[in-house]
Amino acid sequence: MSFTVAIDGPAASGKGTIGRAVAERFGFAHLDTGLLYRAVGKRVIEGADPVGAARSLGAEDLEAGGLRTAEVAQAASKVAAIPEVRAALLDFQRAFARRAGGAVLDGRDIGTVICPDADVKLYVIASDEVRARRRLKERLARGEDVGLEEVLADLRARDQRDSARATAPLKPAEDAVLLDTTHLGIDEAVARAIGVIEAALGERGGRTVRE
Ligand code: DC
Repeated sequence: MSFTVAIDGPAASGKGTIGRAVAERFGFAHLDTGLLYRAVGKRVIEGADPVGAARSLGAEDLEAGGLRTAEVAQAASKVAAIPEVRAALLDFQRAFARRAGGAVLDGRDIGTVICPDADVKLYVIASDEVRARRRLKERLARGEDVGLEEVLADLRARDQRDSARATAPLKPAEDAVLLDTTHLGIDEAVARAIGVIEAALGERGGRTVRE
């Protein structure tokens, strides 16, 4: 039996951390769909054509190092506005969502476009300031020489591009549960997401996803 959890939200809202944690808690598979766009963005920085890169994406591209850099994030956001790039990545994401045993996908358009029938939809947000501080901490930990203003400007540019594009823009699905992590620690945010998923599993009459 499949069970799909769709988690969307802007950059550094906490959706990836929540996605990984709930996948582990319920034994579901997890796909960070941002990695697909980052892998295409990285290939484009290296000189590839975006649509060709998206159509020929392989496991080795997702396992490549260097996908977490700010430069690749901006390139990912740019290629993500190209409809043919999104179309090339659609079937893989939908097949992943339907896998037996349950799946969690996090991204920007999971609840709206990839899995409009997902069993649970979460839309994770946090204030710009809090998101920038989280991302700054990660980047400083990687040894980057960067300040809060630059990180904030990066996030805002990406959110603006991701929200304004014509195809599959960043926005909450009408039936998404909003989770604001501005004042929540990781444990509390994860606990709330688990509560929403448990309620949805309960509505399935107590059957487990593995049946
Ligand atoms: O989640 P992330 O920061 O790794 O995503 C990188 C970029 O990829 C993001 O700025 C927009 C794009 N993206 C998208 O358009 N749709 C998704 N489902 C996931 C990511």
